[in-house]
Amino acid sequence: MRKPTLLSVVAATTAALTLAACSTGTATTGSSSSSSSSSSSSAKPGGAGGDVGVFTWWAAGSEKKGLDALEALFKQKYPNDHFVNLAVAGGAGSNAKAKLASDLANNQPPDSFQGHAGAELTDYIAKGQIEPVNGIVDELGGESVFPKDLLGRLTVKGNIYSVPSNIHRANVVWVNPAVTKKAGITAAPKDMASWIEDMKKLKNAGVNTPLTIGGTWTQVQLLETVLISDLGPEKYAGLFDGSTAWDSAEVKKAAADFKTLLTFTNTASDGDDWPAATDMVIDGKAAYNVMGDWAVAEFADKGKKDGTDYTYFPVPGTDGVFDFLADSFTLPKGAKNPEGTKDWLRLIGSPEGQKAFNLAKGSIPARTDVPASDFPPYQQSAMASFKKDKIVSSIAHGAAVNLAWLSDISTAVSKFYASKDDATLVKDLAAAAKKNQA
Ligand code: BGC
Repeated sequence: MRKPTLLSVVAATTAALTLAACSTGTATTGSSSSSSSSSSSSAKPGGAGGDVGVFTWWAAGSEKKGLDALEALFKQKYPNDHFVNLAVAGGAGSNAKAKLASDLANNQPPDSFQGHAGAELTDYIAKGQIEPVNGIVDELGGESVFPKDLLGRLTVKGNIYSVPSNIHRANVVWVNPAVTKKAGITAAPKDMASWIEDMKKLKNAGVNTPLTIGGTWTQVQLLETVLISDLGPEKYAGLFDGSTAWDSAEVKKAAADFKTLLTFTNTASDGDDWPAATDMVIDGKAAYNVMGDWAVAEFADKGKKDGTDYTYFPVPGTDGVFDFLADSFTLPKGAKNPEGTKDWLRLIGSPEGQKAFNLAKGSIPARTDVPASDFPPYQQSAMASFKKDKIVSSIAHGAAVNLAWLSDISTAVSKFYASKDDATLVKDLAAAAKKNQA
C-alpha cells in the first residue's frame, strides 16, 4: 500500500471537516471571489469609524498580551475606529463559547469573534451566523500568502468565512529540565512507553507530580495527543471521516495509556484553566505539561529562558506530526459595524498584525511571508515543523470536530476522570462518534 503523504493526511482531514460541515451540497475549497459572497470594500484611510467589539477568550495573562499587541496596532493603523474588548475568561473558550452562542441566538452578535479554523467554524456557517469574507482574504493576498490547506479548512462551498490570525501546535510537552534531572532524565523519550517509564523514575526520585493537567478541555487535549501517538497520523485522521473505528484496538490502547498518564498527575477540577498547570512546571513543582504552544508565552512572560529554564518536545510518539489549530476572526451576520470589522480583519491578516500578535502569543503566523528570523527559537522550530510534518487536526480546539461532538467527547472525558474506567471511556467515545459523525 502506498504510504500516505502529508497532503493525503491533510486532504483526508479536510475532507472529514467539509463532509461534517456540508451535509447538503458539495464543498469546494480555495479562494472564491464571487461578488455575492465577497465582503471587500475599499478601506477608508484611518478606518471606517465607530466601535469595533471583538469577542475572544484572551482575557488574562500571556493571552491578553497577544490581544493587546493587536489592539495597539489597530489603534495606530485605524485611528478612526474604537476597539472594544469583549473578552470572556476561560481557556479554549470554555466559558466564552456558551456566551457567544446565546448572543448570536439573540441577534446580539459582536462585530467579530474568535473561532477555530475547521469543524468548529462550520457550526456558525451552517446556522447562517457568519458572512463570507473572501474579498478581504483576496485583498490580503489569498492563496499567495496563506497556505492552501489552511484556506481549505476555512472554506465551505467556495466561500471563506474567517481571517486566520495564527497557527498553534497542540502536541507539545513543556519540560522543566531541573526537575527531570533529579531522576537522571536528560533526553526526550522516544515513545509513550518510555515516557511512562520516565514518569516512574521521577516518582521514585521524589517528584510527586511528574505531569500536570488542568480541567476537562486540557484532558481532552492530552487524550488527543495520546491518540495521535498510539494510532499514528493517518489512523488518527480516520477517526473523523469514519475510516478508523473509535473502539479499535489502538483507541483502546490509547485509553489505557491515558489512564496510566493520569496516575502521574495533580488532581484537577473540571473548570481548572491551563496557566495553573503550566505554572507548576515553570515553578519547578512538576516535570511535564502537555499544552498548546500558547504556553511558551507564559514561560516568556515569567522571564524563563528557552533551553535552560525550559525545554520542549513533541508528545512522545508524535515526532513529525503537527497537531494543528488556528484562531481566526469572523464577520458575524448583523454586526453593528461591518466596515469597522473589515478594518479589524485587514489588521489581523496583515504581515505586521501577524508578526506583532504571534510574537506575543507563542503561535506562528498563518501567512507564509513573515520571516522566521523575526521570531524566537520556539516559533522558528514550529515553523520548520509545520512545513515538513504531517498535519492533523486538534479535537480540543475545534479543528477536527464540531461543537456538539466536542461537547460529547468532553462529557466522556470528564466522566472518565471520575471513574478511571477506560473501557467505558472507549464506549462513550464510540457512541459520541456514532451520534455526531455526518
Ligand atoms: C486557542 C488559543 C488559546 C488556547 C487557550 C485555544 O483554543 O486557540 O488561542 O490560547 O485555547 O485558551
